[in-house]
Amino acid sequence: MDIAARQAELDSITWYHEFDFGNGLRTRTHCHHIEQHRRIWKFIESHLSSVDFHGKSVLDIGAWDGYWSFFAEKRGARSVLASDDLEQNWSAGRGIHLAKDLFGSSIEIDQQLSVYEVASRGRKFDVILFLGVYYHLHAPFHALAQIRHCCHPGTVVVIDGPVATELRPNEALYDFANHYCEWLPTVEALQQILKATYFTGSEAGYLDPPPAPPPPPAPPPGPLGWRWRLGMCRDALRGSRPDMVRRITGVTPPPPPPPPNTNNKRVILTCVPYEGVVELHDYRLPGGTEAKAARRTTGRRVKAKTKRRK
Ligand SMILES: C[S@@+](CC[C@H](N)C(=O)[O-])C[C@H]1O[C@@H](n2cnc3c(N)ncnc32)[C@H](O)[C@@H]1O
Repeated sequence: MDIAARQAELDSITWYHEFDFGNGLRTRTHCHHIEQHRRIWKFIESHLSSVDFHGKSVLDIGAWDGYWSFFAEKRGARSVLASDDLEQNWSAGRGIHLAKDLFGSSIEIDQQLSVYEVASRGRKFDVILFLGVYYHLHAPFHALAQIRHCCHPGTVVVIDGPVATELRPNEALYDFANHYCEWLPTVEALQQILKATYFTGSEAGYLDPPPAPPPPPAPPPGPLGWRWRLGMCRDALRGSRPDMVRRITGVTPPPPPPPPNTNNKRVILTCVPYEGVVELHDYRLPGGTEAKAARRTTGRRVKAKTKRRK
């Protein structure tokens, strides 16, 4: 192999991931904020290390240059489909093919497969990786319903992305002008949408675990003085709530300051398909977006329920 020529070939590609092919051949990422990306990749890797890929069929959605597809293959996956919608990233899509060649890999590559159509192939997988994708989607519900179609009862789905920490639980933010993050759910909203698309067991692991809440402040030592106690009795006998509250506030320590602004958090969730009735859906889902698998298992009850309500 002409190493210099191969390196020049590698350098002509706009890489997302950092690969080390041995013999000094490496890719140079074109990512901004590379230190943050390296932290995220380490985080994903530590999580994927506990996933059993051995002998499994794997679907990697939004694989880009295939880093996690090769990872799964190296950990014994029987087959890997690295899928992507090339129109959705800034590379020309050549990287994954060159990496496949250099690794001597046999992963399957489909770069014309949007997550919105992933079920159209009619295939089911043992492990589905959906890493770093959901927050770029305009229709995350539709995407997850499609992923649900690709599951059999034993499938494991691993999902990674950022979550909002400063919204209320179950809220999510859409900002189509922000191409770093078009859809930002809270972890509860992400778990809810997973439940709504017939997944279960979506416990979240955090890259930066939320800080523990500060301990409640200790009350000042010593008993309260007789004047205070007498005043409190008077206020209590008068039934004056505001006066009592004012009195208590005056002798209790101020609440601790809120934890520092933690911005958005990175989470990874591992979930499995759920078969049964999801109480979120009192009525049939609009627009026929419900997962076929879900219809198969729950359709009769949902229909019966809907009829009763008419
Ligand atoms: C931030 S990269 C993540 C790459 C890789 N999965 C990882 O975790 O390192 C986002 C990927 O999602 C893909 N993507 C975005 N929208 C998509 C869609 N609608 N269908 C399929 N892939 C999509 C992009 O093409 C890109 O490969």
